[in-house]
Amino acid sequence: MPTRAASTTNRPPAIPRHVAVIMDGNGRWARERGLPRTEGHRRGAEAVQRSVEACVELGVEFLTLYAFSSENWKRPKSEIQALMTLLDRFLRTKLDDMLKQNVRFQAIGRLTDLPGSCQESLHRAIERTATNTGLTLILALSYGGREEIVDGVKSLLRHVQEGHLDPAMITPEVFSKHLYTRYWPDPDLLIRTSGELRLSNFLLWQLSYAEFWVTAKLWPDFGKADLEEAFAAFARRERRFGGI
Ligand code: FPP
Repeated sequence: MPTRAASTTNRPPAIPRHVAVIMDGNGRWARERGLPRTEGHRRGAEAVQRSVEACVELGVEFLTLYAFSSENWKRPKSEIQALMTLLDRFLRTKLDDMLKQNVRFQAIGRLTDLPGSCQESLHRAIERTATNTGLTLILALSYGGREEIVDGVKSLLRHVQEGHLDPAMITPEVFSKHLYTRYWPDPDLLIRTSGELRLSNFLLWQLSYAEFWVTAKLWPDFGKADLEEAFAAFARRERRFGGI
């Protein structure tokens, strides 16, 4: 179980503490080059690695990446299989880098939907990096915001039925302790690539006060300079959280 222990990263004030990313456009990147979609995903995995390294360097504390949504199960079997193989390979080959970079790895979503080999790689990466104190990298896998809220409601109801919770005491803060993300602060900045202006069922509860930054760049082309551009835009925003 992750704890809320303070991170040891030295984050300058203009750097968002928690960055969430909707990594979109792998398919279009491949199509534009006459390549199979799976090649777009392979290059997308390289962009993941670049972004993790950049976040470590820039002092981000939490990075949540939307890697596979609940809706992505509707894709052709061959594409799902390719994505799962990429994920498995990523977790196996990048574990040493994560250990060297002091990255703590985490995952959210209905993880038991994933193939057994991916679940094993996930659990190994989570366990091996559990005591790291730098960037927390959270992969959203078989993740849907509505599904997470439904799972949170079920968890609340269980606590009420078992007599641990008085319904009159339920507040947004109490509810958020029943979400997959209960250990971490909400994202400050949401980045979406490939120009779409949609949330796509990502962190529906947690993004309530996040700043949005959208780029036309496709995910496989995304890198440190784009992150820096997003952070510069974030630093210019005035966040009032509903106040004046
Ligand atoms: C969107 O592109 C991206 C995804 C569905 C999954 C994201 C996966 C990766 C970045 C690669 C593997 C990840 C890891 C962590 C190893 P799309 O296929 O929807 O693109 P399109 O909208 O252009 O078709």
